Amino acid sequence: MNEMKPNIKIPSETNIQLAAELLRQGKLVAIPTETVYGLGADAKNPEAIKRIFAAKDRPADHPLIVHIPDKAALTDWVIDIPEVAWKLAEHYWPGPLTLVLKKHSDVPMEVTGGQNTVALRVPNHPVALSLLKAFGGGIAAPSANRFCRISPTQASHVEEELGDKVDMILDGGACQVGLESTIVDLSGDQPRLLRPGQISKAEIESVLQQPLLLPEAYEKIHAPGMMEVHYAPITKTLLCTQDQLRGIFQDDTFKHQNKIGILSFGREINSGSFDKIIVMPVTVNDYGQLLYSKLRELDNAELDLILAEQPPQTSEWLPINDRLKKAAKQWVEDFQSKSV
Ligand code: TXA
Ligand code: MG
Repeated sequence: MNEMKPNIKIPSETNIQLAAELLRQGKLVAIPTETVYGLGADAKNPEAIKRIFAAKDRPADHPLIVHIPDKAALTDWVIDIPEVAWKLAEHYWPGPLTLVLKKHSDVPMEVTGGQNTVALRVPNHPVALSLLKAFGGGIAAPSANRFCRISPTQASHVEEELGDKVDMILDGGACQVGLESTIVDLSGDQPRLLRPGQISKAEIESVLQQPLLLPEAYEKIHAPGMMEVHYAPITKTLLCTQDQLRGIFQDDTFKHQNKIGILSFGREINSGSFDKIIVMPVTVNDYGQLLYSKLRELDNAELDLILAEQPPQTSEWLPINDRLKKAAKQWVEDFQSKSV
């Protein structure tokens, strides 16, 4: 398996022990989680953390998420743990929820980008959990992509993004959730949603029995997931409604001058009219699981333009619309000025 890609390893017991040893040596190991693949390093080793930033080309003031084996480990990383943190941890861990809390004094500033809070989660993936157990410490891991690029949801994507900048990639198959975790900040007076994800605002509010503030009001801290341009393909990507898509569909000159790829929302489209068509599922979880790998596939197809048909603008689709909007953000002006 993967003869051409020596960095990608099957998650055998031996390879997990090897990966734990690499982490102890301050090296980088890409780990599968249920959300996306993470670029992992020993969270207590500042030199190893610096390697993450170098490999990703990520600015040093952007904080990382620390992955821990279980909720009991929370006390190693944070202080003043509010009751609501235990409640959410109890309810959702292991799972795609990250909690931001006040950091313990021995959490390196390199991990938190200089802030006095730290982001933590227990990933729900057997390989990540086995590695955490074998390693015996916290693993700091941002998504294993280059800064501002599409997050990897398969081992081969990590190889494509980082190549030999990572010392080992543990292959845990395709990620089940496919979108980054929901982030909730519990370090202030009131809980606040920093990044939408599969676990929704409403679900969290029902566990907390109190409202969750939205990120808009959050005075700009260093949160790359909240930057305007993020998760972006290299190919120009535009979001469009069904009507706009139909307009382009009928414009032969435009179609002939451009190699166009379509990310369709559940609709079969006449394949003769465009260069590449991907029909997405119409259920949120299935769509989320495939989004990044399909965007990546379109991005690798040497197209001039990717047109992504908008899913419904409902709260259920919020995390997906959030990612799509960010993927297309840098080209929005173009689309508005074009008569399609
Ligand atoms: O699903 C996920 O969360 C994946 C997997 C690998 O666990 N990780 C991930 O990491 O998406 P990354 O680095 O791509 O995104 C981390 C997010 C950023 O939006 C960052 O700003 C936020 O977590 N974050 C980390 N520490 C924070 C802190 N102390 N305060 C506020 N936001 C923080
Ligand atoms: Mg990321």
